[in-house]
Amino acid sequence: MRLIAPMLALAALAACDSGTESREEAASTRAVQREHTAIPYGTASRGTAARAAALASPGSSATPELLDRGRERFLIFCSPCHGASGRGDGLVVSRGFPAPPSYHQERLRGAPFEHIVSVITNGTGLMHSYADRVPPEDRWAVAHYVRSLQRTEAQTAGASE
Ligand code: HEC
Repeated sequence: MRLIAPMLALAALAACDSGTESREEAASTRAVQREHTAIPYGTASRGTAARAAALASPGSSATPELLDRGRERFLIFCSPCHGASGRGDGLVVSRGFPAPPSYHQERLRGAPFEHIVSVITNGTGLMHSYADRVPPEDRWAVAHYVRSLQRTEAQTAGASE
């Protein structure tokens, strides 16, 4: 009987050790999971390197290649709702999907590139995220194309006045 007490103490110590280990393991698992949580744009500091890279501009100059790529991706992924010229009158809308706002309204003309990239990445309101279909570098191409649509529309409107 006298042996049992120290043995129980040892067993308790061992349990203690493994308890610490599994807590550390759990903590590191949580850290990994946190990396994948979608953070709404503007509500938190840029969390991970991947997220920062996804939102970082590849440079402000829109090369013809970048715009071509953006146009191609826009026509595939965005125009079904936003319409080829961004007025919010795509085919899906004509079939009853709620109309998105026109890109040519004041507020969106003034929105920074980061806002468009963030909407593609995270979605907004009724619009789902397109992060799984439009990779980070293409989001900037699409954002540049959206901006070029806005400029063209503004020039056309200016010319007709
Ligand atoms: C299935 C339809 C659909 C598709 C496809 C779609 N959108 Fe949208 N988008 C919407 C709707 C609806 C809204 C309005 C969301 C709201 O305010 O509830 C919206 C809003 C926006 C806005 C304005 C956000 C604001 O600040 O008001 C931008 C910019 C935008 N979309 C960009 C894009 C881009 C770029 C793509 C392609 C990668 C795309 N959308 C694809 C439906 C769509």
